[in-house]
Amino acid sequence: MPLLELVDVTKIFRTPHGEARAVDGITLSVEAGETLGVIGESGSGKSTLGRLILRLAEPDSGSVVIEGQDVLALGRGELRRKRRHWQIVFQEPFASLNPRLTIRQIVEEPLIVARMGDRAERRLRVLATLEEVGLSADFMDRRPANLSGGQQQRVGIARALVTNPSLVVLDEPTSSLDLTIRASILRTLARLRASRGLTYVFISHDIETVRHFCSTVAVMHRGKIVETGPTRDVLMAPQHPYTQSLISAALPVVPYSAVVGSTNSRGQIS
Ligand SMILES: Nc1ncnc2c1ncn2[C@@H]1O[C@H](COP(=O)(O)OP(=O)(O)OP(=O)(O)O)[C@@H](O)[C@H]1O
Ligand SMILES: [Mg+2]
Repeated sequence: MPLLELVDVTKIFRTPHGEARAVDGITLSVEAGETLGVIGESGSGKSTLGRLILRLAEPDSGSVVIEGQDVLALGRGELRRKRRHWQIVFQEPFASLNPRLTIRQIVEEPLIVARMGDRAERRLRVLATLEEVGLSADFMDRRPANLSGGQQQRVGIARALVTNPSLVVLDEPTSSLDLTIRASILRTLARLRASRGLTYVFISHDIETVRHFCSTVAVMHRGKIVETGPTRDVLMAPQHPYTQSLISAALPVVPYSAVVGSTNSRGQIS
C-alpha cells in the first residue's frame, strides 16, 4: 500500500476574473520512504497540490488517502489529532514563523495542538529536535528576527518534525536561501529522511536539486501532471515536450564553454 495516494483531485479557484483550475484531476501515489519531487513553472499548481495533500485546502473533487486514512473523511477534531503525522515546511521561513514567539514556543506549539506530552516532556522533545536540525539549546529563548535565514528554516523544519510525522511536504524549502546555506539545509533534510525513515513531497523550481534529492518526479503544467516516473528517467529522457522545455530552460550556461561549444554526455554545455 502506498503511503500517499491521490485520485483525480481537482481544485478550482473562482475569482471575479473567472476560474483557475489550480489542480486539475491529479492522480499520484508515493511509497513510504520515497521522495517525490514536484516541478513546474510558477503558477502550475505545485503549492496548491501540497496544501490539498495535507488538507490545508479543500479539493472540489477527488480523494486523498494517507497511510490508509481517507483524509477528506476526517472531522475537525480527528483531523487535528491526525495532523501530527503529516506536516509541511514552507518556502519563506520568516513569514511562516510567528515573530512574537520564542523558538521554543514555535517548536512546542504543534505538540500542544496534538496534546503530546506534559511540559517537561515537551521541553525535552523541543531540545532534542532542535539539536537534530543543527540548532543548540542557546536558540530556545531567541526570536525569529534574531536568526539568519538558514537558521529560521531549521526552526521551520524542527517545527514540522517535532511531532514525529511520517509524511512531510516541503514547499520550496530552500528557494529563499543562498547557495551554500541551501546545500547545508538539503544535507540536513537528507540525513533526517534516512534517520527517521521520512517520506517527502519536495516541491521545487530547481531541477538540479530535484535530480539529487528525489527518487521520483512529477512534472506539473497548468494543474496537471504531464509526466512522472523515476527522477533519472524523467530528467535524462523526458518524453513530454513541456518537460523537455523545462529542462532545456534550466541548462547551466557557462560563458566560456558556451563560446567554445563543448557539451558533455548529456548534451549539455559543460
Ligand atoms: N487562494 C487563491 N485564490 C485564487 N487563486 C489562487 C489561489 N491560490 C492559488 N491560486 C491560483 O492557482 C494557480 C496555482 O497556484 P500555485 O500557488 O499552486 O502555483 P505554484 O506552482 O505553487 O507557483 P509558484 O511556483 O509561483 O509557487 C495559480 O493560477 C494561482 O493564481
Ligand atoms: Mg508555490
